[in-house]
Amino acid sequence: MRPNEVEQVVYPDDCDAFGHLNQAAFLRIFERARWDVLAEGPGMDVFTRTDAWPAVRKTVIDYLAPAFVGELLRIQHSVVHFGKTSFTMRQIARRTGDDTLIATAEFVFVCVDRQGRPVPVPVEVADFFQARPRGEPMDRMSVNGVQLAVEQRGSGTGPPVLFIHGFPLDRTVWKHQLDSLTGFHRIAPDLRGSGKSDAPDLGYSMSIYAEDLVGILDALGISRVVLCGLSLGGYIGFEFLRRYRERVRGLILVDTRPEADSVEGRKAREGLIARIREQGSIAAAEAMLPRFFTPQVSSEIIEQVRTAILRTPVAGLVGALAAMRDRPDSTSLLPTLTGIPTLVLVGAEDMITPPSISQAMAAAIPGARLMEIPGAGHLPCVEQPVPTTRAILKFLQGLAT
Ligand code: MLT
Repeated sequence: MRPNEVEQVVYPDDCDAFGHLNQAAFLRIFERARWDVLAEGPGMDVFTRTDAWPAVRKTVIDYLAPAFVGELLRIQHSVVHFGKTSFTMRQIARRTGDDTLIATAEFVFVCVDRQGRPVPVPVEVADFFQARPRGEPMDRMSVNGVQLAVEQRGSGTGPPVLFIHGFPLDRTVWKHQLDSLTGFHRIAPDLRGSGKSDAPDLGYSMSIYAEDLVGILDALGISRVVLCGLSLGGYIGFEFLRRYRERVRGLILVDTRPEADSVEGRKAREGLIARIREQGSIAAAEAMLPRFFTPQVSSEIIEQVRTAILRTPVAGLVGALAAMRDRPDSTSLLPTLTGIPTLVLVGAEDMITPPSISQAMAAAIPGARLMEIPGAGHLPCVEQPVPTTRAILKFLQGLAT
């Protein structure tokens, strides 16, 4: 088991007359799991020791599949947001036998003293849950008032590459590119509201995302990068170019579009926001997964992407949707990108941003090259990682010379 994971047995008194784990018993199981994880870390007495009791302020549980008497559930824990006196813990329960996702939950805690006054989250708790798993080359950086998770690989003599993921995903979509593009300094943040970055309730827009990225580059002392943006990552790339064009050495646009949302598109964003608020991140998975891939995609890839979506906090999903709904049109930016070497990549079977959009985008950017990736839908970096990485490598090698 990984750190921050524990197992819990489903007992008969947790179940209804048909032997299903009862919805209210989940609360007890999740609570026991939290104490067990603390027992393996800073100790079950950490809150009494530090005089800061975690009072639950909000609970959201998605019940996804039934569990039965005698089964063993593996419960993963991560803290998706730390405030001064509050924190949000995400718990994911899977059946150990077949790895089925049984339920996900988010609990918002406010630490209070014995008089009920809010007090800071104990440092030992924050340190324990923010500790980097062994072997994971990830930093947390404080940028614009939030903690952002940033994975970095390699150094190399070629230009640094900043990978910007899409919605409702995180930096793990770039795994193959991060593993393979040796010789280049690869930087892949989780955008605010995604992956292991903080997910504040408010403060999402293209300009804030772009400011976060420049804050990361400043913190790393990097002046110029190749921007590689997938879909939402491309929208953010356009905003970055409007603000910090001098910091862009090259541009890779992957399955994205320059246009703003249409009236219908904005309505669809509103509908998805409402469903996510009601049902949690499962609504984002249901909306996006059927449109992400070709029919030939493997079930492992679907599962990997589903897991990334399900661990995205509701605040981050809602924030990203609102930011995309309100983004400006970038069509008029394209002909001004003279002098910025650009590669436009698109999955040949993309249903969300079909190749015709990329063809028009490449035609509008002076000197841009276009490449279609066969056998890929909206996420070629995941569905066809080898040809995608090869295309990116060729482009980067061209820049380095
Ligand atoms: C993405 O992959 O980032 C989204 O499909 C973008 C969008 O919904 O416009």
